[in-house]
Amino acid sequence: MLNKVADKARESGGEAAARTEIPAIDVSGARESGSNDRGRTSGVRRETIFELKDLTVSYGGKPAIKGVSMEIAENEITALIGPSGCGKSTLIRCLNRMNDLIPTASVEGQCLYHGQDLYGTEVDPVEVRKRIGMVFQKPNPFPKSIRDNVAFGPRVLGLEDVDARVERALHRAALWDEVKDRLDENAYGMSGGQQQRLCIARAIAVDPDVILMDEPASALDPISTGKIEDLMLELKEEYSIVIVTHNMQQAARVSDRTAFLIVELSASEKERWGQLVEFDETEKIFTNPSDKRTEDYVTGKVG
Ligand SMILES: Nc1ncnc2c1ncn2[C@@H]1O[C@H](COP(=O)(O)OP(=O)(O)O)[C@@H](O)[C@H]1O
Ligand SMILES: [Mg+2]
Repeated sequence: MLNKVADKARESGGEAAARTEIPAIDVSGARESGSNDRGRTSGVRRETIFELKDLTVSYGGKPAIKGVSMEIAENEITALIGPSGCGKSTLIRCLNRMNDLIPTASVEGQCLYHGQDLYGTEVDPVEVRKRIGMVFQKPNPFPKSIRDNVAFGPRVLGLEDVDARVERALHRAALWDEVKDRLDENAYGMSGGQQQRLCIARAIAVDPDVILMDEPASALDPISTGKIEDLMLELKEEYSIVIVTHNMQQAARVSDRTAFLIVELSASEKERWGQLVEFDETEKIFTNPSDKRTEDYVTGKVG
């Protein structure tokens, strides 16, 4: 399954891609008309990268999200919004099998990645996480030098040209100019915003296909937040990004499409679970949503 993708990459002549087992993705059409000045998609449906079908995730048998179906497109920023506890983190963790690391978690339904079942028995979760990187709320650099943080993934994977990869990843993460003279200093000496961009550099150093970000800026000041947002808009040219944010302005500023989830209560009010209310173009979600519950949330009536 996931290995087949690598074979395809090899066949299509992407030697570097084959070496790192990254699928060869044709993004040649991804920058065509239909984007506005912020590169936002309007009315254009790009290639589907993830297809969720009736996805339910439970912890210890209790559903945390129920029946989520949605398609996530390539080279877009997809935002997941909704009140605390509605299952945003649970949902984003499904996309690279991070829920596997939680012993009580179980997943039903389907999560297709490039048409392949991510939860198929033959799929290697380590391979999955190599393709689908993740950045967390709190910057989590390793207690190592800036260089070694970014070189970590490429070294583990035995990739060549590690120095060049480190430099390229730091450039892409808009960090190179700030750190080029201190690559051998400990990453803990960086500011929070720099550490988060370092974590993004670390994620992209292995040439992933997708970057998942769970509230990547919520621990940062507004200037660092702006830098991360600008960076996301640049990165989506090359990667597909899914971001969880509790900051609605942020979702409105950066994302192409937005999914709104709520906490649903059973009639007895004994059980609660997250449910997808609406998933559409971000502009529509924020200006003309189809569902009253979305409207109440984005206009701040509830939340
Ligand atoms: N590791 C876990 N073990 C048990 N329950 C969890 C775990 N993580 C999340 N939950 C529960 O799942 C629900 C959704 O949580 P989460 O996905 O963290 O929501 P959000 O990110 O939207 O705040 C909550 O009720 C939460 O308590
Ligand atoms: Mg969360």
